[in-house]
Amino acid sequence: MTTLGTPLSPSATKVMLLGSGELGKEVLIALQRLGVETIAVDRYDNAPGQQVAHHARTITMSDPARLKALIEAERPHLVVPEIEAIATPVLQELEAAGVVRVIPTARAARLTMDREGIRRLAAESLGLPTSPYKFCDSLQELQAAIDGGIGYPCIVKPVMSSSGKGQSKIDGPADVQKAWDHAMSGGRVGPGRVIVEGFIHFDYEITQLTVRALGADGQVETHFCEPIGHVQVSGDYVESWQPHPMTPAALAESRRVAKAVTDDLGGQGLYGVELFVKGDQVWFSEVSPRPHDTGMVTLITQWQNEFELHARAILGLPVNTALKSPGASAVIYGGVDAAGIAFDGVDEALRVPQTELRLFGKPESFVKRRMGVALAFDADVERARTRAKQSAALVKPRAA
Ligand SMILES: Nc1ncnc2c1ncn2[C@@H]1O[C@H](COP(=O)(O)OP(=O)(O)O)[C@@H](O)[C@H]1O
Ligand SMILES: [Mg+2]
Repeated sequence: MTTLGTPLSPSATKVMLLGSGELGKEVLIALQRLGVETIAVDRYDNAPGQQVAHHARTITMSDPARLKALIEAERPHLVVPEIEAIATPVLQELEAAGVVRVIPTARAARLTMDREGIRRLAAESLGLPTSPYKFCDSLQELQAAIDGGIGYPCIVKPVMSSSGKGQSKIDGPADVQKAWDHAMSGGRVGPGRVIVEGFIHFDYEITQLTVRALGADGQVETHFCEPIGHVQVSGDYVESWQPHPMTPAALAESRRVAKAVTDDLGGQGLYGVELFVKGDQVWFSEVSPRPHDTGMVTLITQWQNEFELHARAILGLPVNTALKSPGASAVIYGGVDAAGIAFDGVDEALRVPQTELRLFGKPESFVKRRMGVALAFDADVERARTRAKQSAALVKPRAA
């Protein structure tokens, strides 16, 4: 049985989000609707999620001492990592000591913040199909890995990075030095290790949202959302849609891979499993132990969007992953480097039929910072994509 309390009272069910960007904001809204007391943590003040939570805390979450002190002071029932750059050993320590429950588990947060942890688990422990790969600590090792079998084209990524940062494609020997230098400047924790992966010439890539939630018997059950298709530019998502059409064999293989990874990582909550597909062949790429940016499309396509699914699953509540309508999302970038920007054309954007908008409320805009998203539904994904892109293009961010 799940019992929820009253926020701001001794009976409160308290949840702390580590990371309070646009994805955390929607999780916080879903928790607020269930009367959960929320603590939104981020590295800067007035982060999107901090604007909708009961409490806002600003700390460097990669600093173990500060993270530990904050969790011990607040004593939330659940700690929900929403970003990768967290001192995850502290989460493992506090989880092991029974101080908090980490979502989905502290081990999942730790393994997925590092490309090496999750890649070795998927490929070497679970035997799942992935691109060929090697880990390298120097330019010489990188060149040797390429010459030793990875070949060209290939992709280099810092092991600790996200949203395409420090990532580049190598088409031939002339690109190797540049890719190494780019990786050294783009990692999260200074210069370090990279993964080099053989390039997969996939037909398309999907996100398989996978939910581990309790059934009526108290056992974890796995639920799958319809596959989400997306377009990535420089490693960052610009458009997504659901459902992506797939052959029954490719869909079954995708779900087999997603189940194997999420069974191993365990816990309760929603995972975003990234997969490459060519014909009926599927490669595991990576996994987020939390809502996925491409899954913002579910704000308009599902009865319970990915954020509600995550909130329900972590609280031990039942979930429904059914699709409501085909739909699409299109990202709205800042286009300017400025604080406190204005958005013109919101009325025109919302006049596109069957659309919705989310403006995240980020205090500061960068040219390539995601500031909002347009959402659309329609009878099929192609029409929905057209509407979403049309609506997104009508929103004009500018310095105020
Ligand atoms: N081995 C690969 N072959 C082909 N494309 C790739 C490969 N690795 C990454 N990509 C492309 O780059 C995107 C971002 O890579 P990913 O590993 O997901 O990094 P991030 O953690 O920054 O999202 C992928 O969604 C895919 O489009
Ligand atoms: Mg990715």
